[in-house]
Amino acid sequence: MINYNDIWFKCETIIHSKAKLKEKMQSICNFLGTQISAYDWVGFYLSDVKNKKLYLGPFYGEPTEHTSISFGNGICGQAAESQKTFVIDDVTKEINYIACSVHVKSEIVVPIIKNQIVVGQIDIDSYKMSAFKTDDQQLLEQICREIAVYIE
Ligand code: SME
Repeated sequence: MINYNDIWFKCETIIHSKAKLKEKMQSICNFLGTQISAYDWVGFYLSDVKNKKLYLGPFYGEPTEHTSISFGNGICGQAAESQKTFVIDDVTKEINYIACSVHVKSEIVVPIIKNQIVVGQIDIDSYKMSAFKTDDQQLLEQICREIAVYIE
């Protein structure tokens, strides 16, 4: 059983540490990717709000060629545009989806919102179908709310 409270406490410590923003993001990716077995790829995208583009930041897992994504494209782009969390149980059912790996079966994307603007997001891929439940969504939304404070 995953203890989401323990995971949150550790993430909170990382977020409010004295490390630089990118280091905090990398630590969170590594921590979540190693602690939760269904989290096979964990990454941050950061927004270029003016040009409506997302750029890949720190991540855990296999490198991806999708280092920039326009708002509206794929699950990431849709989350950026709508300012809503996307939970995808089965990626093969999605029309507007950008595949990063043939192994990925489900995905969650949580926008990081600051002053009503999407400044970035957390994107997690799983090789398991329907890997993301309410506990995962709540944990990730909490991380996004708190890390938003440190994003310029
Ligand atoms: N699947 C995402 C693209 C990013 S990769 O998962 C790392 C999407 O559809 O936007």
